[in-house]
Amino acid sequence: MERPALLKMTIFICLLTACNGREIKIKTGDNTTNFNHTLALILAEYASAVYTVDLSELFSWTCARCNNLTMGFEVIELVVDIQNCLQAFVGVAPDPNAIVIAIRGTQENSLWLNGQCLKGMHLLNLNSVQNWIEDFIWQELDLKLPDMPGAMVHRGLYGAYNNTSLRPAIVEAVDRIRESYGELPVMATGHSMGGALVAFAALDLVMNHGIDNVHLMTFGQPRIGNEAFASCFYKYIPNTFRIVHNRDIVAHLPPYYSFYWKSYHHFPREVWLHDDIEQICDDSGEDPSCSRSVWICSINDHKTYYGLSMEAEDWSTCRIIMDRSLPYQTDVAGNIILAKDAIGPSIVKPISQKAAAM
Ligand SMILES: *[C@@H]1O[C@H](CO)[C@@H](O)[C@H](O)[C@H]1NC(C)=O
Ligand SMILES: *[C@@H]1O[C@H](CO)[C@@H](O)[C@H](O)[C@H]1NC(C)=O
Ligand SMILES: *[C@@H]1O[C@H](CO)[C@@H](O)[C@H](O)[C@H]1NC(C)=O
Ligand SMILES: *[C@@H]1O[C@H](CO)[C@@H](O)[C@H](O)[C@H]1NC(C)=O
Ligand SMILES: *[C@@H]1O[C@H](CO)[C@@H](O)[C@H](O)[C@H]1NC(C)=O
Repeated sequence: MERPALLKMTIFICLLTACNGREIKIKTGDNTTNFNHTLALILAEYASAVYTVDLSELFSWTCARCNNLTMGFEVIELVVDIQNCLQAFVGVAPDPNAIVIAIRGTQENSLWLNGQCLKGMHLLNLNSVQNWIEDFIWQELDLKLPDMPGAMVHRGLYGAYNNTSLRPAIVEAVDRIRESYGELPVMATGHSMGGALVAFAALDLVMNHGIDNVHLMTFGQPRIGNEAFASCFYKYIPNTFRIVHNRDIVAHLPPYYSFYWKSYHHFPREVWLHDDIEQICDDSGEDPSCSRSVWICSINDHKTYYGLSMEAEDWSTCRIIMDRSLPYQTDVAGNIILAKDAIGPSIVKPISQKAAAM
């Protein structure tokens, strides 16, 4: 009689231990459903701004999208991984008084072909990051994460954060800012694939760099891991909101199958934007009464959040514009890092695994 309960208890304790390892402090009594609409608007503006192609304007925060609610933002570091067509910035925001990290989604014009939700499986033709992401939808969960028993994630997406110049640049910039500005909270944001990558960045900061005040707000992000991953993720980063605009198709990818043990599974907490309301969803990650309740999906809903454009002005290439007088440095692989002050020597060295191995 007692056995099953005991077993359950043991598993539960194991899970807790596993997810709460490394002295992660999770404040009890935090009402994480306290969704802040103003904060969502502000972070949506950062997620939109990181799509700016002109690095000079982005670095000086004078771009057309660098306005309004993000006024006074200071970009501390801008990183462009040329090889993988990735772009991110880290800086200090006046309101909220925080470090903001934003990672751009993919720039690819053939990304979306028309089709019904979950049909036309070739619709994600991500050739800008094709080294990392091929056959995105059919890719099984294929990467086990260390220190997270049972957790599996999408290798391509994980690698696009972990094994590119994004990781060292972002981690170093956050450390550097906290040295000079004090222990500001970190607000991580991104749209689409950028949301997926920034989720891994947030997790990395909490799990491996001892930063416990990390908030995550993503817009139209795909699923990135399985259920074990999702529940661990939420324990590490309880201040997580995953905004889904109406029928945004990407939030449904890769598909979720409730009876398949190896299914992808969203982490909580979804906030579903529809009919002018923000519906706060349950903490399962796959609330059936939220975006999962729609059957027809939309590409257009993916492209705007809170009326802001979530795409680059120029979708034809992975193009950047940069004024060469900017204080930029490159790593051996040719990736660009623009920084306000001297960046650590650990960054300006081979980052690419290939370059490092040669
Ligand atoms: C948490 O916040 C939600 C929504 O704001 C509210 O409905 C709920 O009562 C709160 N719960 C607690 C324990 O404060
Ligand atoms: C943001 O600022 C621009 C001009 O700087 C203005 O045209 C636009 O309406 C503003 N948007 C919002 C949402 O306030
Ligand atoms: C919501 O966020 C805004 C912007 O940072 C802040 O000014 C406001 O105080 C927050 N509201 C609550 C209730 O925390
Ligand atoms: C990242 O690089 C390491 C070292 O080269 C390798 O072992 C690992 O499999 C790579 N991870 C991914 C997700 O590609
Ligand atoms: C993440 O990157 C580090 C450094 O390149 C590597 O040692 C590690 O194996 C990578 N993790 C995974 C799960 O690929």
